[in-house]
Amino acid sequence: MFSEGLSYDDVLLLPGYSEILPKDCDIHTALCAGIILNLPVISAAMDTVTEEKLARAIALEGGAGVIHRNLPPEEQARQVANVKRYLNWIIDSPVTVPENAYVKDVRELVIKNGISGLPVVDKDGKLKGIITNRDLRFCRDDSLPVTKVMVEDLVIVTGEPTVEKAREKFAEYRIEKLPVVDNEGRLTGLITVTDMEKNENFPNAAVDKSGRLIVGAAISPQDYTVRLPLLKKAKVDFVVVDTAHGDSKNVIDAIRQIKKDYKIPVIGGNVASKEGTRRLIDAGADAIKAGIGPGSICTTRIIAGIGVPQFTAILDCAEEASKSNIPVIADGGIKFSGDITKAIGAGANLVMIGNLFAGLKESPGNEIIFDGRIYKEYRGMGSIGAIADGAGDRYQMSKDEEPVPEGIEGRVPYKGELRAYVNQLASGLRKGMGYCGCRNITELKQYRKFVKISASGLRESHPHDVQITQEAPNYSRL
Ligand code: XMP
Repeated sequence: MFSEGLSYDDVLLLPGYSEILPKDCDIHTALCAGIILNLPVISAAMDTVTEEKLARAIALEGGAGVIHRNLPPEEQARQVANVKRYLNWIIDSPVTVPENAYVKDVRELVIKNGISGLPVVDKDGKLKGIITNRDLRFCRDDSLPVTKVMVEDLVIVTGEPTVEKAREKFAEYRIEKLPVVDNEGRLTGLITVTDMEKNENFPNAAVDKSGRLIVGAAISPQDYTVRLPLLKKAKVDFVVVDTAHGDSKNVIDAIRQIKKDYKIPVIGGNVASKEGTRRLIDAGADAIKAGIGPGSICTTRIIAGIGVPQFTAILDCAEEASKSNIPVIADGGIKFSGDITKAIGAGANLVMIGNLFAGLKESPGNEIIFDGRIYKEYRGMGSIGAIADGAGDRYQMSKDEEPVPEGIEGRVPYKGELRAYVNQLASGLRKGMGYCGCRNITELKQYRKFVKISASGLRESHPHDVQITQEAPNYSRL
C-alpha cells in the first residue's frame, strides 16, 4: 500500500482576493502555549547553526534559537544564560553591594559580572546609593568604604514603572541607571539606559514576561537529567527533545518524565505521521516538530530508505495536532522564503531553519574561502564530523560504533548579518500572505488552497532562459 507524498517544490499557494498589504500582515505565532514569537522561525539545534550569538540575533528579530547539544551541559547552559541576560526591561535581581563593603570589593564584583554600576543596599535591602565605573575610575584608594565613594542623591522610580515613565526619567536627568524601589525604599530592580536603547532598536524582539529574550535548548532522552537542571537554572524558555525518530519509546518516555519532573515547555520530534504526532501529544509534548529527511544536509532517506516529503508530512502532522490545539514546527527543507509561506499554509505554526542560517555572520561555523568566495561550513548532526563530536545518539549510535552517517558535511555561501537576511524572509512571507489575502498566521493556516505543479511548472517558477547577472538578497541557487 502506498500514498502520495509532496514536497514544497510540488505545490504553490493559489493567489486569492486580498484587502491587505504585505506590510500590514501580522506574522506573530505561538511556539507553544505561553510562548509567542513575532517571527515564525526558529533556528536549528545544529553545531554549525545555533550557539549564543545566533540565538541572540534571531530572538532580537522576533524568532528564537535552539542551542545545540554537541556542547558540554555546563557550556550549553552558560550560553542560554548569556542570551537571557542580553536584554532586560527591568533587571529584577540586580547585583548589589552591601553598604559595609569596600571599594576593592566593588572592583571585584564589576570584573566578575561585567557590569558598570552597582546599587548599594543596607542589610534590609534598602537602597543607600549607587556606585558606577565613573566613581571607581577617580578613586585611588581601594581601602575606602563604599559609602565614601557612592552617589547618594539618586533619581529613582517607585512601584512598577512603565516604559514611558522610565524614558522620561532618563531624558530629564541624563542618568545611565535607574533603580526601582518599593514603598519602603527596598531595591526591587534596576533599569539601565543600555537596555532601554536595545529595546528601542529591536521592537520585534521575542521576550518573556520579564522582557528577556526567548531561547531554547536541545536535549536528548539520554542526557536530559543532566542538562535540564542546569538549563532551568539558566532560565531556558523551552527544550527540544532532539532526535531523528521521535516516534520511539525512549523519546515518548523521556517527554512524559520531563513534563512530570521539570514543568517546562517541551517540543517533541521529529515525526512525519499522524500516529507519531498523536503519541508525542499524548506523552505531553507542547509542540511537535515535523520532518524526517527533508534537511539540506540529510541523507536519511537515501541511506535508510524512509521518510515523507515535507509538505505532506506537515499536512498530516498538523491535521492531527490541530485536534489538540498543539502547534507544529516544520523542520528542514526551507530553501526560499516562499517555502515558509507554504509550510504555514499546510498547517505549521512556524518553521525551523538550518541551511539558510548557517552562512550568516552570527553562526558558529568557520569561514572558508573557496574560488574567491566566502563560505561557511555547514554539516548535518548525523555527519561523520558531528558524530565524532558527540551527536551520534540523535541517530541511535554510540561513540564506540563505526559511524554510519545520515548527513553530510559541506559549505554554504556567506550571507552577512542575520538582521537583513531575516528581514528578507519575513517580507517574502508577508508578500505570500498579501497574495492570499491572509491577515495573520491563523488565516494562512486555514487558507488551504494549493495547486500541485509539474516539473515544467517548477522550471517555469524559477528564473529561466536567462543568465543571472546580479545576485538578489533573497534568491540564490548557490
Ligand atoms: P535544513 O534544510 O534547514 O534542515 O538544512 C535542517 C534540519 O535538518 C535536520 N538534520 C538532519 N537530518 N541528517 C538528517 O537526516 C542529519 O545529519 C541532520 N542534521 C540536521 C534537523 O532536523 C535540522 O533542523
